[in-house]
Amino acid sequence: MARVLVVGGGIAGLWTAVKAADAGHDVELVTKAELAEGSTRYAQGGIAAAIFPDDSARRHFADTMDAGAGLADPAAVGVLCDEGPARVRDLIRFGVGFDRGESGLHRGLEAAHSRARILHAGGDATGAVIEAALVGTVRRRAVAIAEGAMLIDLAVTAGRVTGAIVLDAAGRRRVHTADVVVLATGGSGCLYRHTTNPTVATGDGVAAAWRAGAAVADLEFTQFHPTALAAPGTPLISEAVRGEGAVLRDAGGERFLLAIDPRGELAPRDVVARAVWRRVREQGGTPVRLDATALGGDFLAARFPSIDRATREAGFDWSREPVPVTPAAHYAMGGIATDLDGRTSLPGLLAVGECARTGVHGANRLASNSLLEAAVFADRAARAIEAASTIPSLPEHAHPQVASSHERSPVDRRELQELMWANVGLERDEAGLAAAAERLAAWTAAEPVDRRSAEDRNLLDLARLTVAAARARRASVGAHFRTDAPAAASGASIAEPELEAA
Ligand code: SIN
Repeated sequence: MARVLVVGGGIAGLWTAVKAADAGHDVELVTKAELAEGSTRYAQGGIAAAIFPDDSARRHFADTMDAGAGLADPAAVGVLCDEGPARVRDLIRFGVGFDRGESGLHRGLEAAHSRARILHAGGDATGAVIEAALVGTVRRRAVAIAEGAMLIDLAVTAGRVTGAIVLDAAGRRRVHTADVVVLATGGSGCLYRHTTNPTVATGDGVAAAWRAGAAVADLEFTQFHPTALAAPGTPLISEAVRGEGAVLRDAGGERFLLAIDPRGELAPRDVVARAVWRRVREQGGTPVRLDATALGGDFLAARFPSIDRATREAGFDWSREPVPVTPAAHYAMGGIATDLDGRTSLPGLLAVGECARTGVHGANRLASNSLLEAAVFADRAARAIEAASTIPSLPEHAHPQVASSHERSPVDRRELQELMWANVGLERDEAGLAAAAERLAAWTAAEPVDRRSAEDRNLLDLARLTVAAARARRASVGAHFRTDAPAAASGASIAEPELEAA
């Protein structure tokens, strides 16, 4: 039996905690906000898995590899797609009631999926339904839970992670010792001015792991979602809406995507996001619009109740008028490098969920693979706790250093977010990246004394790392698009005949 410290209260952290407790480990879970607060509860589209008769794990594998633009790891994608259906059955056992139609489970279609295979719950509230079921499940287990407890740093002794330094709800620093620490701290959308992520998404686990010496990878691959509502808070408008038939129109009312990709609005997310970004620029900043009017008010309210509410709260009636949308930072495809069991380059440290870089997403994540990745790899990590002291044979991953200058002023979060959006966003080039690196080097982060200062330090570390990674990758691929090296690396795609034969 091991003492396990899980950091993070989204699907990956809760899943690990439940399964580790079931395996007899002594589990403590800390989370900086309330247990349920995190990106999971805002996930709309759903969870992808090959569970329908016209589908197969092989086909899901091919779609995931294609979306990843040649950089997804086939071994990791194979695990994801093969084990996905079992994890969906686990979710049903945990009490998740996926939406059903007359012929059984209802399934949605999202971009770059060759089959409708997205399960959803509560219409467009899949993440909230999953989060609620897992919070209920974890509370029924013997798991010690500390809310309002902010990870500051990892405790490392003789090269081994032995716990974490945490700022508790009363502002006291405490060392939580553990045999194994599992980071499940989610993403880092708050690096950017526009994001679909909640305010807790400040990359805490990745930054702390890097400071402790863990290998990180693929930080240049930030996924920008093409359709956040262009209104305060940039609420997400799920890709599932386009899957049901909504289209994007420019200022002249034209559908512009078909001229860019034959898959139109359901081309991979990086393609659609860049097309939107460019058309907005060509229109002098006027947003493009998502036109869902053909779907009808009753259907929209029933199938997408949360989005229906959010658009109306922002003053739009999307059943009658196309609504303005903008790309927004949505998902971190890079993170702490792990093997297929969540093991990192540091003994005693595991990472799961969005903060981990398992290799399943490559340069561009396939829609609705994120909840699945969290469940599949958290399950494996929980089973690998006994082996967490051994060092996995990870592929070569850098532990980059980042520059800081001598003359430094306190980091300004708002300015950092604007800088990242302008210089390290959907399109980058060396001049912009170099300017960002210089500005970031001139800032310093104060010793963390509260959640805000701890987050600012993490954002500054991650921004520097992201810029360094983006400068190092000189070719455009997937979500990393450099206008000074626009020729995309081509990923080998798996052709239909081979699929049929498999
Ligand atoms: C969406 O609903 O469009 C987001 C789903 C995802 O990020 O996978």
